[in-house]
Amino acid sequence: MKYTKELEITKKAAIEASKIITEYAERTSFSIELKGKNDLITDADVASENKIIEILTEAFPEDAILAEESSQRTELPSGRVWIIDPIDGTTNFAHGFPAYCVSIALWDNKSPKVALVLEVAKQELFTALEGEGAYLNGKSIHVSGNNDPSASLIGTGFPYRDLHLVDDYLKLFKRLMEKTHGVRRPGTAAWDLCNVACGRFEGFYEYGLSAWDVAAGSLIIKEAGGVVTDWRGESDWLFGKRIIAGNEAVHAFLGKEIRQCFSQQDLTHKKNSN
Ligand code: IPD
Repeated sequence: MKYTKELEITKKAAIEASKIITEYAERTSFSIELKGKNDLITDADVASENKIIEILTEAFPEDAILAEESSQRTELPSGRVWIIDPIDGTTNFAHGFPAYCVSIALWDNKSPKVALVLEVAKQELFTALEGEGAYLNGKSIHVSGNNDPSASLIGTGFPYRDLHLVDDYLKLFKRLMEKTHGVRRPGTAAWDLCNVACGRFEGFYEYGLSAWDVAAGSLIIKEAGGVVTDWRGESDWLFGKRIIAGNEAVHAFLGKEIRQCFSQQDLTHKKNSN
């Protein structure tokens, strides 16, 4: 099977990173700094990222890296690139709220090939290889078969840097509160996407996310039979900062609701804003 070695090395890197994160979580204190408004970084993010990059570059020295804390990029190179979030859910981690994960994806020629999300506090390991299905702790997973939006559970995240779309976001939130079983905000987008992949959420939407938040979870959803697009229903979701994911029916429902709440121009990301 293609990319089997890459998946094995990815697992090794994630497990080593998870040990480091757990060790920091058990300490009485660690350093928490601000990268920007409400945008936290801890010692654990840096240590986790260093370990992941060390393991991946030792095995695949030619590959490019796009990583949240050390090597951000705004577009993909043409060959192989590892997209890494060393702790997705840093705010949860910094506050001791047990929902944070390591997210690692390999993209080759601008298409996702290998994906792993390891939720550290619960030790849930989600993996996918292109064309080979999606797995949670080794068991095959599938998106929810519940196609009724009024009986669906929806995941989302709240923006915290640029709040200029918040009024429309709250309008959407109110509509979804009225039209679904409920909306949840776990605080870790990579794991939120995996909750769609294994059928806990029927759908998920957010704006302001970065490539490292969504690069792995989106392949896991697709391999679990789900759909991922931007807010226009198109494919600019990796750098486009607007994502909708779900089973087919709830994805379509969310797209319709979003397009009714936001102006045409706010459906797409403009550089230097969310
Ligand atoms: C954050 C989480 C959160 C989302 C934020 C992200 P980070 O990632 O995914 O759920 O709402 O927009 O930035 O910063 O903890 O890696």
